[in-house]
Amino acid sequence: MANITVSSDMDSLAADLAVVREFLDRATPPQELSDSERDRLLRQIKELMQSRNAKLVAHYYTDSLLQDLAEETDGFVGDSLEMARYGRESDASVLIVAGVKFMGESAKILSPDKTVLMPTLEATCSLDIACPIDKFSAFCDQHPDRTVVVYANTSAAVKARSDWVVTSSIALEVVEHLMERGEKILWAPDKHLGSYIQRTTGADMLLWDAACIVHEEFKSRGLKAMLQMYPDAAVLAHPESPEAVLNIADVIGSTTQIINAARTVPNEQIIVATDKGIFHKLQQVAPEKQFIIAPTAGDDATCRSCAHCPWMAMNSLQAMVDSLLNNTNEIHVDVELGKRAMVPLQRMLDFAAENALRVKGKA
Ligand code: 13P
Ligand code: SF4
Repeated sequence: MANITVSSDMDSLAADLAVVREFLDRATPPQELSDSERDRLLRQIKELMQSRNAKLVAHYYTDSLLQDLAEETDGFVGDSLEMARYGRESDASVLIVAGVKFMGESAKILSPDKTVLMPTLEATCSLDIACPIDKFSAFCDQHPDRTVVVYANTSAAVKARSDWVVTSSIALEVVEHLMERGEKILWAPDKHLGSYIQRTTGADMLLWDAACIVHEEFKSRGLKAMLQMYPDAAVLAHPESPEAVLNIADVIGSTTQIINAARTVPNEQIIVATDKGIFHKLQQVAPEKQFIIAPTAGDDATCRSCAHCPWMAMNSLQAMVDSLLNNTNEIHVDVELGKRAMVPLQRMLDFAAENALRVKGKA
């Protein structure tokens, strides 16, 4: 079976890194708040949300304050597949998406009549940055015989150019399904997730060359050393991590699948190779267990805030207030583009429903 990785030449790799760094320079973390300031902002957000019939949809990697606020106000905390589904099914007039930009765009594409706000529009994703539509479209044009499957961590334009959108919760099943139909796949943008799926399914996949700056920093050498310190620990890893890390993992899965595994594995100690924002939920679902973050490359890492996505960290309470008060940071997707991007997104949601892929409890 073919598993061809598109190799970037050194010049374009350096250019990609420079672009990611440029975005990182703008990723300023929120300021620390005093207790009284925090409580005042929380009160103000709740009032604004009520008056605007707004619901908060937050990713597991965002600040624990936002995750708690989403749950307290009858909103939602979840992985990127569940966030998309919740946004579409919610009867709120306004969705506030706390996460990164592709999540807000997916919500808008699936609910064009709702107002979709984000605390910041600067919160992007290294995968989205490294898959610009012009280059991607040219790549697809070169391989017209392949079914185009893109990860949700992409722009609306890239989604509109695809046949299928998938998230890490459902990517394996979709690729298996396409393989059974004899289809060859062009996969973008995350090479680690793509290569994990290729190894697991044996599908014929041509891979785009991009990575998540957070997961790419998890290192197998450090992980092996950590396992000597915690020999009874289970290792749970997100499939955006490099192959050498996945080879050591006991469970590989999306954020929701990791949370479910934390509940069900018998081990009392659990090493986790994903963004440490997830620890809030992990500790809630399994308070008796000890969670340990997997080792990263340290100070030399590209992500600058190891094991925590610098863009997810930009979602703050103050930014939420500003957005709700002034309608700033509203997500707009061109109507025609949105209609085209809706097709592969909807295909993913339909596939999940038809195959009863209730991602909860799958790991
Ligand atoms: P999930 O779909 O597992 O939530 O992952 C989204 C993501 O951005 C991981 O880095
Ligand atoms: Fe993108 Fe990685 Fe951040 Fe997820 S953790 S949003 S893949 S940069």
